[in-house]
This record gives sequence, C-alpha cells and structure tokens, in this order.
Amino acid sequence: MEKKGHPGRVSSKALTYLKEVVEYGFGNSSGPGCTNRFEKAFAKRMGVTYGIAHSNGTATMHSCLAAAGVKPGDEVIVPPLTAAATTYCVLHQGAIPVFADIDPRTFNIDPKSIKERITPLTKAIIPVHLYGLPADMDEIMKIAREHNLAVIEDSAECLLSTYKSKLVGTLGHMASFSLQASKHITCGDGGIVITNDEKLATAVRKFSCFGYHTLTGSSGGVIAKKDRGDPTSLRHDSMGWNYRMSDLQGAVALEQTERIDELVEMRMKIGALFREAVGDCSWLVPQYAPPGYINSYWTFVCRFEEKEAGCSWQDFRKKFYSLGGDFFYGAWQLTYNEPIFQNRQFLGVFFPIDSDLYKGKKQEYKPGLCPVAERLQPKLMHFKTNYLDLEEAREQAKALRETILQVEAERKKSS
Ligand SMILES: Cc1ncc(COP(=O)(O)O)c(C=O)c1O
Repeated sequence: MEKKGHPGRVSSKALTYLKEVVEYGFGNSSGPGCTNRFEKAFAKRMGVTYGIAHSNGTATMHSCLAAAGVKPGDEVIVPPLTAAATTYCVLHQGAIPVFADIDPRTFNIDPKSIKERITPLTKAIIPVHLYGLPADMDEIMKIAREHNLAVIEDSAECLLSTYKSKLVGTLGHMASFSLQASKHITCGDGGIVITNDEKLATAVRKFSCFGYHTLTGSSGGVIAKKDRGDPTSLRHDSMGWNYRMSDLQGAVALEQTERIDELVEMRMKIGALFREAVGDCSWLVPQYAPPGYINSYWTFVCRFEEKEAGCSWQDFRKKFYSLGGDFFYGAWQLTYNEPIFQNRQFLGVFFPIDSDLYKGKKQEYKPGLCPVAERLQPKLMHFKTNYLDLEEAREQAKALRETILQVEAERKKSS
C-alpha cells in the first residue's frame, strides 16, 4: 500500500502553535513570537547564548560569512563532498571557494589538506559534519587559531552529535543548522545560526534582516514601532538581506525542537541497525567514526568496492530493491565537478572567481584537485534513516544483510 506522507514526523502540537499564528493574523512588531520561541528553545538545548533563525540553512552560512568579515576576493576553505549550499554561500559573499580534500575513512574534510590550501587571502573555513559525523574539530580549530581564521560549522546534517563529549555546533565560532525537509528536525525549509559570541550574533542577525541598526543578537526579527514611526528616523547602518524565518515556519520549528531528542534518537537507532547489518563486510564499509565521535546519522553511508564485491554499484542496488530494500541514493557530484564550476559564470559574469577583485592564484576546478574525494564519490551509497517506525527500519536492515549475503555467495561461486 502506498504510504501517504510521513504521519507522526510533525506532531499535532505544531497545529496548536500554527493556530496561534493564524488566529493572531500576523503583525510587524507583535504576535505569538513562535520564531523567537524556537530560537530560545534551540539555543537552550544546544547550551549556547544566541540562536538566530533564518529562512534556510544556506542563508545562515551567508550571514555567518558576512559576520566573520569575509569580503569579495577573500578565500574560504570548503570540502568538495557536500551539498552545493556549502560552497554557494561563499560565492554569494563574492568570496572564492578553495576546496580541501577529505579523509578516506571519515569522508570529512582533512585538516592536513586544509593546511596546504591556506594562503594570505584565506579568511574562513567551513567544515561540514557530513552525514551526521563530526569533522575533526580540534585540529581544525588549532589551524584556525594559528592563522586567525573564522570557523563556521556546517551542521546541516548533524544534530546532537558529540565530538569528544562536546555538542557539535558549539565548537567553532558559529554553526549553521538546516531545517529543510530531509533533516533531523524540519519545518519544510528553515535554518538557525548558533554562537556564544555577542558581536557575531548581532552581525548575523543584522545581516539576516536588512542591517537594521536596532537589532542585536538576542532580539527578535521585529523593528520597534518607535524606530519606524518618525520620518526623520534612520534605520540601516549595514548591508543585509532578508533571510528571516516566518512565524509559520517558527511554529513548526518550535514543535520539532521540543521533540529534538526523540527525533535524533530514532535516526541513531536506525543507523545502529544498519551498522549491525553491514557487520565486518570488507567491500561495504561504513563511514568510520573515530573514538569519541558520535554519528547522529542524517543518513547511513558506506563505501562500496565493486571489484571486491564482484558486483556493480547498480547491480547491488537492484538486488537490494528485489529483496525489499527502499530507494537509496548515490553521493552528490563533487561540487567543483558541477557544470556551474566548469562554466565559471557564477553570478552571470565571471565574478567572483575570475574578477580583478581576486588577487590570488587562479583557481582551477579540474580533476586531480581533491584525489581522495574523487576516488570515493562514485563508490558511496546513502541509506535512508528517516523511518518513523523501527519495525520498518529493521526490515530495511534485514534486506541489506540479505543483499550482502547473496552478493558474497555469488562471488564465492564464481571465483
Ligand atoms: C551539508 C549541507 N549544508 C547546507 C545545506 C543547505 O541547507 P538548506 O537546504 O536548508 O539551505 C544542506 C542541505 O540542504 C546540506 O546538506
């Protein structure tokens, strides 16, 4: 029977909050303040001072880059194996993405490669906690301190994971979370920045709301009436976009934050089921979590070795489907292999990469730039972890185990 949506993902409590918003009818400087309440609840759960809600988890990182003082022509180090958003926000700021290679076992950005890519123009690093696994933050922060760089954690896929017992998102200068539909908690689309730094929090909020001079890190997105009512009043003292989260999104985000532990725990249980199903298979190898790294499993990802398995990536997937397996994904293309990078016309012109504003070495986005990522990307398999019923997840783990056993048996037979 075809399933209708994802019942239970958002509880009926969200309807209570949505009703408050709808019944109030919206106001410029008043209302039920669901977005504000979401910000406070999220910051409290993360144990930080500031939470600044945004319309999505790309806008968040654009605001962070601006708050860190990244300007057109500066360089920002990013991994190539991630959603395009990690790199697009750099381009949105007119800055230059510089790709660092990844670790072959954790699939996360490799601090050694970061070091090699630093130049006098480098201003920031965006480590991604890929698929729910923390990046090597101690090493990254050490490099950042040595070179005076801002660190913006892209934690879109990583919620309540811990790194050496510390919550991911509290380790860099700022962290960005996404509440897009596939994420651990969602309001359809949404995002939030967290930080403990008052100056950065104020800069992030101002950038996300037209640079109104009245805004601070802790205030909501509204402008006080007294600041709008007088014809002589001045409003904007810095550049900003409109990246606000609406109170409708805030209502659902608030409900999700109230259930954050339950929602994350479910994904972690499902990740553990898949991990058990894979066992010590030598040709289907899960993302490696070093000691002290806890994966919150936005998705369960493995490296598939075709030759060793004696079966192609596509045939493995076909077999998994035939045994009742659910749809699964391959990895994104490496960002620099996408046509936008090959054509280099980023903002309709050659800005920022090939403009005179950029004084660095011409970036070449071509094969060989990040060899580890290039070898790994075609091998990855992303198994879904967003089941709301543990029984359904158990069936999927069983189908995966059975697929492995059958492929293994066929390989032995033919060798
Ligand atoms: C690693 C990563 N960063 C950033 C984003 C962008 O988030 P959003 O879709 O909320 O803009 C995503 C996915 O959506 C992501 O997976």
